[in-house]
Amino acid sequence: MVETRLIDGKAFAQTMRARLKGEVAVFTAETGVTPGLAVVLVGEDPASAVYVRNKGRQTVEAGMASFEHRLPANTAQEDVLALVKALNADDDVHGILVQLPLPSHIDTQAVLATIDPAKDVDGFHVVNAGRLAVGLDALVPCTPLGCVMLLKDTLGSLAGLEAVVVGRSNIVGKPLAQLLLREDCTVTIAHSRTRDLPGVCRRADILIGAVGRPEMIRGDWIKPGATVIDVGINRVTGADGKNRLVGDVAFEEAQGIAGAITPVPGGVGPMTIACLLANTLTAARWRVG
Ligand code: GUN
Repeated sequence: MVETRLIDGKAFAQTMRARLKGEVAVFTAETGVTPGLAVVLVGEDPASAVYVRNKGRQTVEAGMASFEHRLPANTAQEDVLALVKALNADDDVHGILVQLPLPSHIDTQAVLATIDPAKDVDGFHVVNAGRLAVGLDALVPCTPLGCVMLLKDTLGSLAGLEAVVVGRSNIVGKPLAQLLLREDCTVTIAHSRTRDLPGVCRRADILIGAVGRPEMIRGDWIKPGATVIDVGINRVTGADGKNRLVGDVAFEEAQGIAGAITPVPGGVGPMTIACLLANTLTAARWRVG
């Protein structure tokens, strides 16, 4: 039985945002440029609306400019593309984020491909995905970046460790695997078709849940002492009829087995916006060059 450490992403993100605020102030004093982040929200998905509001508030708190564009759910694809092109051409905008998921009549890849890769603070453009894959400077997706920061803070060097990423999305699983490879981990990407998923997970020194299935990863899938990063944010209704948020990992079962684990909420989630702000400052710096 080990004592399981809690990885406090909320506190880490707060410290990071305070540091960024100082860096933004220095950058603006030296260059006269205020980094600007434009966020595009199409439709009224309530969870997305909450994220967008939080992004706007934290952007302003960090000393950056926030531009919010809310479009109705029935907006035509060409109008979304026209807005993205206008933001590409706007010198006050250094970062562009189009909130996903988009309504089903809009081709997500077409929208992402239209964003100027130099303003793609989500790191979703194929140019940034490709640059990450071949080891060039890139804007890196925020959630995976936040995961690696927490891992390095918890473990120090990640070199040589076995990392198992459960989930193969373009937003989290695939870029996270690339980042872990860059840290010299031995990386496995597992998914719904993986044979003996519990056995694969039990090999992991670093186990990442990024599938979006509530508490799918059980306590006895975790190698004793492993570091567990839970990217899942799943809303479930408990036996008492109340809604609560749970991750992809059965958190209570992991206690006494995992060496360290991120809670949900308060683990990876807060890191995503902090990394978005960091990417916006990076994009502004590259532009001023
Ligand atoms: N929807 C859920 N997570 C994200 C994210 O990191 N970026 C964008 N653009 N949309 C999301």
